[in-house]
Amino acid sequence: MATSLAPLRVGICGLGTVAQGVLRLLSENASSIALRAGRPVEVVRVASRRARPGVDLGAASFGTDLRALATDPDIDVLVELIGGEELALELLETALKAGKPVVTANKAVLALHGDALMALANVHRTTLGFEAAVAGGIPVIVALTRGLAGNRVRWLAGIINGTSNYILSAMTSAGRRFADALAEAQALGYAEADPTFDVEGIDAAHKLTILSALAFGTRFRFADVYTEGISAITPEDIEFARQLGYRIKHLGIARDTGHGIEARVHPALVPAGHMLASVDGVMNAVLIHSNAAGDTLYVGAGAGALPTASAVVADLIDVARDTAGPPAPDPDVDQRMLGIEDIVSAYYLRIPALDRPGVFARVATVLSEYEISIEAAVQRAEAVHRDDGGPWVPIIIVTQDVPERVMNEALAAVQALPDVVGQIMRIRVADLGHD
Ligand code: HSE
Repeated sequence: MATSLAPLRVGICGLGTVAQGVLRLLSENASSIALRAGRPVEVVRVASRRARPGVDLGAASFGTDLRALATDPDIDVLVELIGGEELALELLETALKAGKPVVTANKAVLALHGDALMALANVHRTTLGFEAAVAGGIPVIVALTRGLAGNRVRWLAGIINGTSNYILSAMTSAGRRFADALAEAQALGYAEADPTFDVEGIDAAHKLTILSALAFGTRFRFADVYTEGISAITPEDIEFARQLGYRIKHLGIARDTGHGIEARVHPALVPAGHMLASVDGVMNAVLIHSNAAGDTLYVGAGAGALPTASAVVADLIDVARDTAGPPAPDPDVDQRMLGIEDIVSAYYLRIPALDRPGVFARVATVLSEYEISIEAAVQRAEAVHRDDGGPWVPIIIVTQDVPERVMNEALAAVQALPDVVGQIMRIRVADLGHD
């Protein structure tokens, strides 16, 4: 009987939303978890800087000394759920050096220190579990490291920030401006008071760093991830994209090009009929294209107490069964990372131009000088009147594939045309079809 074996004794650092979810899940699903783990999984200690008298800790004792918990001989595994960087890193390192398995939901620490932490786990022959660090309840780490382990991953593309997805979805369905949709997300608790990490793409870049390292066996290369958020997207862009048959999504894309790895986070046009286009609200999704399985899509809640707890508990069950965690990248085999200028993409361009004869032709001529072909275009029938000048129109163009380096040069030339009266908006079109 699984339940007659010695329990796995869990110590949790943190008592916020996710920690409370873990306590609840381990209590509510105790018998099925024990069956799958081969023994009971019990929280014996909780440490948090601040007590929360209303939270049911079950049989666990409570303390405020987080560091003491990391070295506590009465726990078999440390669960780090305090977030932040420095102290979390210290706790994880301390536990790993003591040969204690750790489970964490901390994507920032992994993205920035994943190589060192995985090396520590290897040296001390213990486990570092981080299923909860990417896309909450979606088992995407296990998909990459076990389910698809026999494949070569060609590329992956994910909606991996729920806050940005909520805001873009609200802008799309209700025509809201970015600032209004952000305020609504904050009122509903989907966005932090300081939303920078989410809306400027940093949170998604942390997660993409982890996915890319696991997919391609690179080190954790956060500094090499190109990062752009959604704050410059306007309802007009969303509407023009819709007219052209696209939705605008915030994507993390990582690709093995054969001559280096691309890793980038930015808004992207996704064909309206594509699977990712209909993943709305706070939902997350990761599409992985690999050479044997082809396209596999993982969709679900990317945050929240129980979805994230689901991932933490899955890692705890692995620890209880002594199943190895995600494999560390081989430090001798690191792949070249490409910069954003090295990518090849199609582009959506919104060019604010004076409403006078020949302006579209002049823009098209500049693009053709850079051998950029136009796939589609939309021109507004009615001009917009500026306070300070004549009528102008947004010229909307979708190009065919072109190296970003060339596009940058072409855009500088278009921007310099006397007809162009404002900053050109450029959004990449996601390539979700090729190997
Ligand atoms: N802030 C994150 C998001 C949730 O909006 O997706 C946890 O990673």
